[in-house]
Amino acid sequence: MTNQDTWPELPGYTDDILNEVFSHFQQRLNADLEGVETEDGREHLRIKWLGRKSGLLKQINDTYVQKTPPEFKKNVGHRFNAFRQSVEFELDPRKISKRTGIAVETLEQLGGGQSKKVVEKSVIDITLPGIRPTLGMEHPLIRTMQEIVRVFEHMGYSVGVGPEVETDYYNFEALNFPPDHPARDTQDTLVVARQEHKPLRDRLLLRTHTSPVQIRTMERQPPPVRIVIPGKVHRNDAADATHSPIFHQVEGLCVDENITFSDLKGTLDHAMKELFGSSVRTRFFPSFFPFTEPSADVQISCIFCGGKGCRKCKHSGWIELLGCGMVNPAVFEFVRGKQPAYDPKKISGFAFGMGVDRIAMMKYGISDIGLLYSGDMRFLEQFA
Ligand code: PHE
Repeated sequence: MTNQDTWPELPGYTDDILNEVFSHFQQRLNADLEGVETEDGREHLRIKWLGRKSGLLKQINDTYVQKTPPEFKKNVGHRFNAFRQSVEFELDPRKISKRTGIAVETLEQLGGGQSKKVVEKSVIDITLPGIRPTLGMEHPLIRTMQEIVRVFEHMGYSVGVGPEVETDYYNFEALNFPPDHPARDTQDTLVVARQEHKPLRDRLLLRTHTSPVQIRTMERQPPPVRIVIPGKVHRNDAADATHSPIFHQVEGLCVDENITFSDLKGTLDHAMKELFGSSVRTRFFPSFFPFTEPSADVQISCIFCGGKGCRKCKHSGWIELLGCGMVNPAVFEFVRGKQPAYDPKKISGFAFGMGVDRIAMMKYGISDIGLLYSGDMRFLEQFA
């Protein structure tokens, strides 16, 4: 086939005939392309195929497409366009959208009047490798918090929540921290600004512990109560490897007739064994919280050295994990206005609160609490 070729007449317009004819054109194109080695050669080919006046495409168009009877025109035209696009793809890169590898003309048709740029953006190139959606997972903190909660659920506790922005009343006063009491100084509180016009008890702050939910729970329901409260708390602490102004606690409250310190010890000893393994031992030290009396700090035998003494437990063999105590009768007095059944002469209870972050750090060997809040995927992916 040369530019001077005379073109044979088509013996008909069936699919078979048209397919054969156009596949013959395609073979000729392929043969031409195979033989071309230089840029000049390619330019020569471009003129040979795409030349306006006497290029082969124009000849094919004039000889076949234009002369096709109207009833077959669609079929022939369709094949001609596909072939023309493949010639342009090879020989006229300007006709091909670089971004999508699709003929500009096709893009324009797809776009129904939208600009090429807009259409290019919406076209999906199915030859590109797919984007694999990353699977979500529980954050190690949340996972630890759920594990702790589950241990208590198995003992019949229900789960509660409360607000992170609290009033001074629930966070301090009803928990028996009187205004100006020095015990308030142990909690470096972050307060909401510009509330000086309000009475102290109504002023808002970021709760420093989950204990206010003890009060909210008892105000809502009469005894018996068995509840755990997981949640986020805030203190005005400078961030370092073991401190973060945001951290998490799980609070516990049990109120009923005849609840004793032995119940508290048995419950927490069992919970620690569930969380850290049955060989873990617990011990209780006298402590102070305004809302419990007596109060205790609970230590567990070091889970790293089994109690022999190592760097992690500062060679003491013990790790301090939580605060607890018998509910102070003064706290019951605060809720009695709303729930008279909290009569300290008839009922008693215990409460405890543990830091989730420290437990998560121990369980997963995390040395810097900040990692739990950094959102760094390289850190988080290790828990997937
Ligand atoms: N709320 C106390 C704290 O944050 C912990 C605690 C809870 C102590 C319940 C006793 C009873 O330090």
